[in-house]
Amino acid sequence: MKTPYLVIGLAACLSLLAESAQTRPSGSNQTLEQRLVKLERRVMKQQRRLLRTSRLAAQLSKKLASVDAALGLFSDEKPCPDGTPGFFHAPDFSSCYHLEQSLVLTNWTDALKLCKILSPTSHLVSIETKDEQQFLRAKWFNGIGGVATYARFWTSGQMVSGQWTWQATGKKMAYENWIPLVTHDDERYDCAAVYSNEAYAWGGAACWAPHMVTCEINL
Ligand SMILES: *[C@@H]1O[C@H](CO)[C@@H](O)[C@H](O)[C@H]1NC(C)=O
Ligand SMILES: *[C@@H]1O[C@H](CO)[C@@H](O)[C@H](O)[C@H]1NC(C)=O
Repeated sequence: MKTPYLVIGLAACLSLLAESAQTRPSGSNQTLEQRLVKLERRVMKQQRRLLRTSRLAAQLSKKLASVDAALGLFSDEKPCPDGTPGFFHAPDFSSCYHLEQSLVLTNWTDALKLCKILSPTSHLVSIETKDEQQFLRAKWFNGIGGVATYARFWTSGQMVSGQWTWQATGKKMAYENWIPLVTHDDERYDCAAVYSNEAYAWGGAACWAPHMVTCEINL
């Protein structure tokens, strides 16, 4: 059930690439600023398109998940008690999770929006204990095919007035799992992401960077 979804994501990326390849500078007497403004507009337009694509992907994901549920696929993963399709239940953590499988990567704010589209009570994931970290690590590892792929996943961790905070709960981080020996208090990198190539430890990332999305519903 996940394959068509990947294909859609891939097709969207390819069409964007094809479009940017066709881009040619127009009007040789334009000032540099004019060109930059145009380029910026184009980038913003593509970002909006990406968001629309990810909305579409989210809707599709929902539909596919209900088909999966109807067919009894992924039966090792219990559905979420509130019935939200695409989320699986993890009773140990009183949570439901959704690992976004599409190739559409989003910045931190769009990732938040994507979770809300999937379910109004859903947020970006907050990793509050070592057990939860271990549990999710296995899910992420399997989610990217169990290979040492370079992937980053957004969490709800955000630096607020110099304090790392879980946006989903408003609480300061208690359990932390930062990449050793790498600074994580640089205000330019104030959204927390999980790094697959760093044993799934966390790093401060630029909030505008495109990463994968993991949503959580606290039950
Ligand atoms: C740029 O070129 C167009 C025609 O190609 C001309 O109408 C316009 O006045 C030019 N602008 C400047 C600032 O030279
Ligand atoms: C994320 O992208 C959207 C456009 O899709 C943009 O409006 C927003 O400002 C961006 N957020 C960040 C933190 O870069």
